[in-house]
Amino acid sequence: MDQNRTPWWRDAVVYEIYVRSFADASGDGVGDLPGVTSRLPYLADLGVDAIWLTPFNRSPMADGGYDVADYRAVDPLFGSMSDFDALVAAAHEHGLRVVVDIVPNHSSSQHAWFQEALRGRHRDRYIFRDHTNNWVSVFGGPAWTQVDDGQWYLHMFAPEQPDFNWRNPEVQDAFLDILRFWLDRNIDGFRIDVAMGLFKAEGLPDTDPGFTASSPIWSQPEVHDVYREWRKIVDTYPHEPALIGEVWTDSAHDLAAYVRPDELHQSFNFAWLEAPWAAASFRKVIDDTLAAVPAPTWVLSNHDVVRHPTRYAEGADPARGLVRGNAALLAMLALPGSVYLYQGEELGLHEVKDIPPEARQDPIFLRTKGEVPGRDGCRVPLPWSGDTAPYGFGPGGSWLPQPAEWADLTAERQTSDPASTLSFYRRALATRRSLGGTLPDTIAWLDSPTDALFFARGKLICAINCGDEPVDLPPHEQVLISNGRLDGDILPPDTAAWLLTE
Ligand code: NOJ
Repeated sequence: MDQNRTPWWRDAVVYEIYVRSFADASGDGVGDLPGVTSRLPYLADLGVDAIWLTPFNRSPMADGGYDVADYRAVDPLFGSMSDFDALVAAAHEHGLRVVVDIVPNHSSSQHAWFQEALRGRHRDRYIFRDHTNNWVSVFGGPAWTQVDDGQWYLHMFAPEQPDFNWRNPEVQDAFLDILRFWLDRNIDGFRIDVAMGLFKAEGLPDTDPGFTASSPIWSQPEVHDVYREWRKIVDTYPHEPALIGEVWTDSAHDLAAYVRPDELHQSFNFAWLEAPWAAASFRKVIDDTLAAVPAPTWVLSNHDVVRHPTRYAEGADPARGLVRGNAALLAMLALPGSVYLYQGEELGLHEVKDIPPEARQDPIFLRTKGEVPGRDGCRVPLPWSGDTAPYGFGPGGSWLPQPAEWADLTAERQTSDPASTLSFYRRALATRRSLGGTLPDTIAWLDSPTDALFFARGKLICAINCGDEPVDLPPHEQVLISNGRLDGDILPPDTAAWLLTE
């Protein structure tokens, strides 16, 4: 590897594909791998650099596939191993890298090892105890389930997702083999599910929920040794596969502990996604991140959170939330580091809030008896074409109902409309690519009115107005792109612009 060249992941735009909901080739109403392959030209056209596929391994689907029964197999619902190989080859032909999800914190309760444990053999691959503690599942309810002989096992998520015992070397070795298995199939990286969860403090002391540095559940020091081993393996592959952690922490400082030259390449920056629409909150996240994290990333939406245009609308005007979302997109695309997009944001999709209870499938909804709506609202299958559901998602139906108003939001409808969200995303990504490699990895804040942010990255200035009043743009030579009409040198509310100074 040429040490002076920027590795691909460093400033990539990665598009998350929630496989179940992207495109369905088989016609069973569930998205699949051939569906993804059929839409690769769309993604290449959109201008992303890589795709991240959510789990497609064999699974009983108690948590949409994040309950893996066989880490080396493709679930027939999503296709076959040759469909996977064909997808990777076609993606590479389109110049797209492929990142796959790996789920090391827990397996499915249908995994052969857990089935053996239930029969009383090798229970130390999981966390079985005679007594429980006070830990609660992230999905609601207790984190312990009792088995027939009276023992309890730990599951930080659904009961169908027993947590592995990472203090057992057998578990560690198994995952090294799983990494090699997929690396040998030519993938370009792993998104590591619940990356901060693998070890629990000895003795499993009682605690309160939360990702605090002192939690006995999350971010135990031993986890770093695991990623050092993983890094050694990926570094033996010449095509620079990346390790990207789903790491929830309380601070950028704690997040940075995972991103080191001998550990993970990157980690999701959920602080950006959690920041409310306000200049001060965006500025704080940017400052904290750039000060602490050597390889920053930015993300606004994923398959676990309410879509950002809906969050930014604060229950008021959905159209305003979308405009703000597009402004936030320009801000994150202007920052140093890489950007993670979530399928459908390029179509301007909102969270679907009116899914009927009987159609909902998220274990969070089911485990909280409907008290927490859960994540189905951001997982509704994409609208591709046509005027009626399933809007070209596939030849059959769609596993969650799609809203009638999505007829106006199909990719087909938006593709040739220069005013559409899709056209805006394409322009934004193309503009970022055209600047590629010419911008420094640092930013400088420029003076701005209180509710706006102006930052310079080399010759590029990004200005975003989060307030209710128009503001004057900083001095510039040229406007490269904005998400709304500029009034001369005035930046209206909810608008961002990229300016060139030379
Ligand atoms: C994080 C994943 O993104 C989420 O969808 C899943 O439910 C949990 N991890 C448990 O695997």
